[in-house]
Amino acid sequence: MLTRAPKGTKDILPSESYSWQYVEEKIRQIARLYGYREIRTPIFEHTDLFVRSVGDTTDIVQKEMFTFEDKGKRSITLKPEGTAGVVRAYIEHSLYAEPQPIKVYYITPCFRHERPQAGRQRQFNQFGVEVFGGKEASLDAEIISLAVKLFDSLAIKGLKVNLNSIGCPDCRGPYHEKIKEYLGDNINSLCKSCSDRYEKNPLRILDCKEEGCKALIAGIPLILDNLCDECKDHFDQVKAFLDSKGIDYQINPLIVRGLDYYTKTVFEIISDSLGAQSTVCGGGRYDGLVEECGGPKTPGIGFAIGLERLMMILEAQKAIDIIEEPMDIYIATIGDMARLKASDLISVLRKKGISADMDHVGRSIKAQFKYAGKQGYKFVCTIGENELTTGDLRIKNMKEGKEDSIRIESLLDYLIKQLGGSSND
Ligand code: HAM
Repeated sequence: MLTRAPKGTKDILPSESYSWQYVEEKIRQIARLYGYREIRTPIFEHTDLFVRSVGDTTDIVQKEMFTFEDKGKRSITLKPEGTAGVVRAYIEHSLYAEPQPIKVYYITPCFRHERPQAGRQRQFNQFGVEVFGGKEASLDAEIISLAVKLFDSLAIKGLKVNLNSIGCPDCRGPYHEKIKEYLGDNINSLCKSCSDRYEKNPLRILDCKEEGCKALIAGIPLILDNLCDECKDHFDQVKAFLDSKGIDYQINPLIVRGLDYYTKTVFEIISDSLGAQSTVCGGGRYDGLVEECGGPKTPGIGFAIGLERLMMILEAQKAIDIIEEPMDIYIATIGDMARLKASDLISVLRKKGISADMDHVGRSIKAQFKYAGKQGYKFVCTIGENELTTGDLRIKNMKEGKEDSIRIESLLDYLIKQLGGSSND
């Protein structure tokens, strides 16, 4: 057990972390391009926040939360998703008093106690965006276009944007009655969770994965056919904005999402490169959530992309080569005096922004070269007794295989020139 990560978690090793950094860098660039600023909220929150926002009829709240009592006997939960904490922060710091809309993004670990499988972990990472204080359909289209832009920038293909509207409380009341009418006596055949949903939020029955319930809802009235005028008009505008941006989407009236807070627009982006867990991005509008959590009436909208699933698509499609920037120079040494000299030199180089290293484990010169080659240094040079006496140094460009002779004291200038003037001065 000591040497095994907990079930459903994964290490990201140095050989993969640069791909994550590359993707995270793209995320930050694109978020900025669209006017979003980063928000960081705690990994854990009071359990009630998730019960209230995500909803007590959802799988997340009923089965999947990592909840524990802290030493002060408070119920604490590791965040199963990013939205709730951001909403809490928006209210706590009165961000509603600032000019709206507030546009934020986050990259955060999330925790759900699910059965692990490809694309489903117990700790996973989300990139999400949230916008507060804007009810216009242009925002719905903007966030979808932001997600699409990110996927495009990573040359990801084979995605489908599935779009739906699940209305507002005004249209949902009468719609829930229609569901109940449709199910009639069959309510006794619903699974345990759906009997609960029948009472509290019948729309969620459409999201049930149980075969029995799936059979019962074939032919059920669809919310899309039961929207009030305002929601219908809003949805028409979302489609018009998406059309004007040239974003392909398909209407999928069965998408209701696995969280309770949504109103009006909901969407999911599905990839043909993932197996059973094919949804890489999910989001939608939540115009009642801020108020539900104790803030002023404020419209909101957002999405989250599962980064593990995004990385899986990149790996499967191999459309871009993410190459790690190699480190600059490794100074191989022979003898104690040379080690002292190399230690001074790497300090000087590092001060100037040049990545440099030397042997720290007492390897033979041959083994040092082998190590430097494996680590992918751009340049390698050797300092031994001879170099210390003459002050002459041979430096090898590992990629091109060519060697230059230089003076030790000109090493810094030589590297700055070769590396394209990357001095920090
Ligand atoms: P969600 O659909 O529950 O939405 O999760 C968003 C994405 O997180 C999923 O599409 C998936 O890619 C990834 N994901 C979810 N669970 C797992 C898991 N166990 N392992 C790996 N990846 C997973 C939300 O979380 C909402 N907060 C999105 C949102 C933001 N809506 C409005 N604003």
